Amino acid sequence: MKSLDLFKLDGKVAVVTGGARGLGREHAFALAEAGAQVAICDLLVEDGERTREELAALGGKALFARVDVTSSSEVESFVSRVMETFGRIDILVNNAARPSEGIALDNVEDELWREIIDTNLSSLFYVGKRAALRMKEGGGGSIINIGSINSFVISNIVPRYNATYCVAKAGVHQLTRGMAAQWAPWNVRVNTLAPGYILTAQTAASASNPDIYERNVSLTPMGRYGRLDELKGAIVFMASDASSFMTGSAVTVDGGYTVW
Ligand SMILES: NC(=O)c1ccc[n+]([C@@H]2O[C@H](COP(=O)([O-])OP(=O)(O)OC[C@H]3O[C@@H](n4cnc5c(N)ncnc54)[C@H](O)[C@@H]3O)[C@@H](O)[C@H]2O)c1
Repeated sequence: MKSLDLFKLDGKVAVVTGGARGLGREHAFALAEAGAQVAICDLLVEDGERTREELAALGGKALFARVDVTSSSEVESFVSRVMETFGRIDILVNNAARPSEGIALDNVEDELWREIIDTNLSSLFYVGKRAALRMKEGGGGSIINIGSINSFVISNIVPRYNATYCVAKAGVHQLTRGMAAQWAPWNVRVNTLAPGYILTAQTAASASNPDIYERNVSLTPMGRYGRLDELKGAIVFMASDASSFMTGSAVTVDGGYTVW
């Protein structure tokens, strides 16, 4: 097959969690522009409906459902609905996550700790397990778990190191390896995409603080935050046959943040 044809996703069905806005929305567009039909879920109904309409305007079928990815029953119904609508699942981007609100570790209440670990780590298992079973029935698939540079390093936003978020994101990388080992015999590949600082609603609050913004920029060799569209190439590569022998890997797209 010619090299650019390897990236095509025509006939594939993709699911993106947290796809209503921000990077999840970009992932959904990247996959739809490469030919996939896309189902997104999120807590944000208005944004989700708008993104669904914009995806459908590209020409394919698109689905949005209001789903809390920490709820096993809501995840189960969503995956069933995707199967009823599209008949298969080939690609999953486990993207939904929440920030840890910049609270110093000693002040993090136990309940907040549980909520962040549940949203940013365990939900990837809740959705991933159910999607992988459908991929197995369909002959294989590709799961992309969204990690972070904070899987490798604690965020350096003194004095709030966002440790809870970083711990969850580190777990995402090991979950990826566990899923990859378990599901390789099903031809289900599982990889992590680890972005650096990209301007979204999640990073807007910290980026509006000039000290934090300058610090993050100066710690990034490329000297800037990433743009929303700068993960699209990696997503299509990881979702498609262009990465057909890659599983259990982490792809870092961070402007060089983790080289130092
Ligand atoms: N922006 C960055 O700089 C950056 C860097 C590294 C990693 N990431 C990761 O990229 C992903 C997207 O981040 P973003 O910056 O676009 O953030 P965002 O807050 O704009 O988007 C996250 C989406 O997930 C949804 N969500 C949160 N909890 C949910 C739940 N329980 N059920 C369903 N949906 C839920 C939110 O409503 C939101 O639409 C996250 O996994 C984030 O950790 C972002």
